[in-house]
Amino acid sequence: MDGIKSKDRVKEHGEVFTPDSIVNDMLDLVDKEVNKDNMWEYIDKTYLEPSCGNGNFLIRILDRKLEIVQKLPREQWELGLVRAVASIYGVDIQSDNVSESRNRMIELIKSGSVDILELKGKEKQGFHFEKFNLTIELENVLNFILNKNIQHGNCLTGNKCVGYQDETSEPMMFTEYVWNNENVTCIGHTLQDIEINTTEDKFNNNGKYVNYMDIRTLNFEYKDTYAEDEEYDF
Ligand SMILES: C[S@@+](CC[C@H](N)C(=O)[O-])C[C@H]1O[C@@H](n2cnc3c(N)ncnc32)[C@H](O)[C@@H]1O
Repeated sequence: MDGIKSKDRVKEHGEVFTPDSIVNDMLDLVDKEVNKDNMWEYIDKTYLEPSCGNGNFLIRILDRKLEIVQKLPREQWELGLVRAVASIYGVDIQSDNVSESRNRMIELIKSGSVDILELKGKEKQGFHFEKFNLTIELENVLNFILNKNIQHGNCLTGNKCVGYQDETSEPMMFTEYVWNNENVTCIGHTLQDIEINTTEDKFNNNGKYVNYMDIRTLNFEYKDTYAEDEEYDF
C-alpha cells in the first residue's frame, strides 16, 4: 500500500505520507521565496515539520540544503553539513516514525541523494550527489543534533511522548543553534514560545508570508550549552 503503513494507523493518526513528487512541488514553492545566492542563509533556514511522519519532507529539505553545502569550498563542507541538519526540526507522535525520520536523514547524507519514490529504478533525481564520508566523531555530532531536533511528541500540546505514543507532562524543547564562526550555543524553546512569538508576525509589512517555523528571531526563556564532553571541533 503506497503512502500508508496500515489502515489502523490512518484511522487513529491520519497517517498518510505525502508522495515525493508533491513534496518536491511544495518545496519548489518555498524555494522561490529564498535567496539561494546567499548560501549560508539557505543552509541555516529553519524548518519545523510538526507531524513529520517518517520524514518525506525532512529528507527533501535536507537534500536541497546539501546541494548548496556542496557548492561551498571543501573545507567548509563539514560545518555546512552540521548547520544544514541543525536547522531542520520535526515532531511525530509515533515513535517508529521518529526513528525512521532520523535514520533516513543520516542515510541520505551517506548515500548522496534521494530517489524519487514513484520513479524507482530510474535515474536519481535528488539534489546533492556526492556522499559525505562521515568520521565517527562527525556522525556522533549529527546523531546528537538529530536526537534533539527530531522529537517524539504531541504537536497539539507541545509535550514529549515516551514508549510508543504515551504523552508525558514534560514539554518538548526545540534547540536553537546560534553559530559564532565554528562555535555554537544551544538555546531551548518550547513549542508555545515559538507559537506565541510568531503568530502576530505571520505577515510582514509587505503582506508577505513569513515562515512561522523560523525560530531565529525569538526571545529566549532559557538557555543551555553543550556539555563539556559534547563539544566538537569543526
Ligand atoms: C498525514 S501524516 C503526514 C506525514 C508527513 N508529514 C508526510 O507528509 O509524509 C500525519 C502524521 O502526523 C502524526 N501525528 C498525528 N497526530 C499528531 C500529533 N498530535 N502530534 C504529532 N504528530 C502527530 C502521525 O503519526 C502521522 O505520521
